[in-house]
Amino acid sequence: MALNKVYTLNTGASIPAIGLGTWQAPGEQVYAAVKTAIAAGYRHIDTAFGYGNEAEVGKAVRDAIAENGLQRKDIFVTTKIWPTFFRPEKVAEGFQISYDRLDIEYIDLVLLHWPVALNPEQGVGIPRRADGTRDIDETTNPSKTWAALEKVLETGKVKAIGVSNYPIPILEDLLKTAKVVPAVNQVELHPYNPQQKLLDYCASKGIHVTAYSPLGSTNSSLLSDETIGKIAAAHNLTPAQVILSWGWSRSSILPKSVNPERVKANTELVELSAEEIEQINALHKTHGKRFIKPDWGVRVFDEEFE
Ligand code: A2P
Repeated sequence: MALNKVYTLNTGASIPAIGLGTWQAPGEQVYAAVKTAIAAGYRHIDTAFGYGNEAEVGKAVRDAIAENGLQRKDIFVTTKIWPTFFRPEKVAEGFQISYDRLDIEYIDLVLLHWPVALNPEQGVGIPRRADGTRDIDETTNPSKTWAALEKVLETGKVKAIGVSNYPIPILEDLLKTAKVVPAVNQVELHPYNPQQKLLDYCASKGIHVTAYSPLGSTNSSLLSDETIGKIAAAHNLTPAQVILSWGWSRSSILPKSVNPERVKANTELVELSAEEIEQINALHKTHGKRFIKPDWGVRVFDEEFE
């Protein structure tokens, strides 16, 4: 059963192959979705300071543990520190806000959300310059940000640390000075953006990759892909189940849904044949696409380095 599959992190901890994504899931909806997911057997929940829903996610995790006879150690919870907390002296503060909002004894994994620092501005998620561009903090040294997160790891309040949206060149820089190798790199990954080079690189460094937007995010064109539709019909599955069946064997995946039927259906996955996997592997050659591409104004995405 797909829900039982786990990957092993470089810390020795297990990360469940399927987790619930919660980006764009507002408070009252996310509370119900997390509870539905845990009752249905999910053991991995992903959130972030930037999603604005950590308090509801944490409450849902606590309530679901109590209602399903579980223990805290049964659920793997990830959150992410937002770039306005990337100054080394602000990393611990950013972590503490997430820790307090989640209120779940400890956090399994904390990630740096983007490889970009923003100049902090009280109460503003994306501070902007007068010309409207994102207010990038060019003075912060990313190595020092990572070193500050390594210090947070020493507190024991978080069990593993990692990164998100890190392409190979930026990971290479980080690894030059890191004492702790990131446990995870969470990136956009689906058949139109299969990230094979990054997967190979991360595997060679002992970094586990987790796929966000594994369905291609909101209103995804992947769901109407002809090849995926044919494979779905052959298995009597939905296109989403085919996409996730392809995904869960390559990396852990975080399908987001606030719909109870879809939360459950997204765990009913199968082993695809080698030929079907090959067909899906080829899709990016004609339909290659990154769905999530915020305009940071600095190089972030791997295609910008090529
Ligand atoms: P909803 O929350 O209403 O289910 P991703 O995980 O790639 O970010 O994709 C999330 C998007 O896909 C959301 O809009 C979500 O909507 C939708 N979605 C999630 N599961 C399914 C599914 N099984 N079939 C169709 N759409 C889905």
